[in-house]
Amino acid sequence: MATALITGSARGIGAAVALRLAKDGYNIALNDISEAMFENNTIIDDIKALGVECEKYICDVSNFEQVEKTVKEIKERFGSIDVLVNNAGITRDGLMARMSEEQYDTVIAVNQKSVFNMCKFVGNIMMRQRSGRIINLASVAGVYGNPGQINYSASKGAIIAMTKTVAKELGSRGITCNAVAPGFIKTPMTDKLTDEQKNMMLGQIAMKRFGEVSDIAGVISFLASKDAGYVTGQVIEISGGIMM
Ligand SMILES: NC(=O)c1ccc[n+]([C@@H]2O[C@H](COP(=O)([O-])OP(=O)(O)OC[C@H]3O[C@@H](n4cnc5c(N)ncnc54)[C@H](O)[C@@H]3O)[C@@H](O)[C@H]2O)c1
Repeated sequence: MATALITGSARGIGAAVALRLAKDGYNIALNDISEAMFENNTIIDDIKALGVECEKYICDVSNFEQVEKTVKEIKERFGSIDVLVNNAGITRDGLMARMSEEQYDTVIAVNQKSVFNMCKFVGNIMMRQRSGRIINLASVAGVYGNPGQINYSASKGAIIAMTKTVAKELGSRGITCNAVAPGFIKTPMTDKLTDEQKNMMLGQIAMKRFGEVSDIAGVISFLASKDAGYVTGQVIEISGGIMM
């Protein structure tokens, strides 16, 4: 049975993607930053109830050595890694004039360097398999920019460039690499925004609703499927029409 690894999957979009790929029949390797993220959380039981295997791997995706070790463990446990979803991400928002170096560097490390770490080590396994699907979580902020998010926008814009580079480097080995660029999706990450910020964004969305995690999971399921076998290096916006 094929295996999918989803980073940052204890909650939010990552958990929804893991559940959806389990429904599609993949064994699931979950990942998050700490054990605490899996406490009072039914994700592992929910996935196992679908009749597939599931293990959690605690690893800081921004840490090169930890990622190398974790990817090795997942390969040994499941035999293959067929789908990689680089989902783990954070925000440390603030206007550039007031943003600290630490705020900037942390977001770049977690959102952007993690994609290099994971694509490098999982990519090596996929190259030997001569097949694989990599799906990266970018953001509309990485396409259009967003005030208060110079760190986040930079990391997500870089992910788009990395997606195209990985697609070009690994395409001849039967591996596709695509990105999704969500707009405003209801998760713990966006719960932090003020009502004023939320209302301002709602006004810009053609569909006049915020996205659900299932809106993202469905598109990622498609990109992982056989039907998307000739789609690579692309960025699919899932934003209800925030900018067109
Ligand atoms: N929610 C949105 O509106 C939205 C919009 C655009 C893009 N995205 C992107 O989608 C992805 C998921 O976002 P979400 O809204 O579900 O966020 P979330 O905060 O709910 O979930 C992110 C998960 O990543 C984990 N994580 C953070 N740092 C980590 C690390 N160093 N190592 C391993 N795991 C780590 C967190 O613990 C958490 O479980 C992110 O990359 C985010 O940038 C979200």
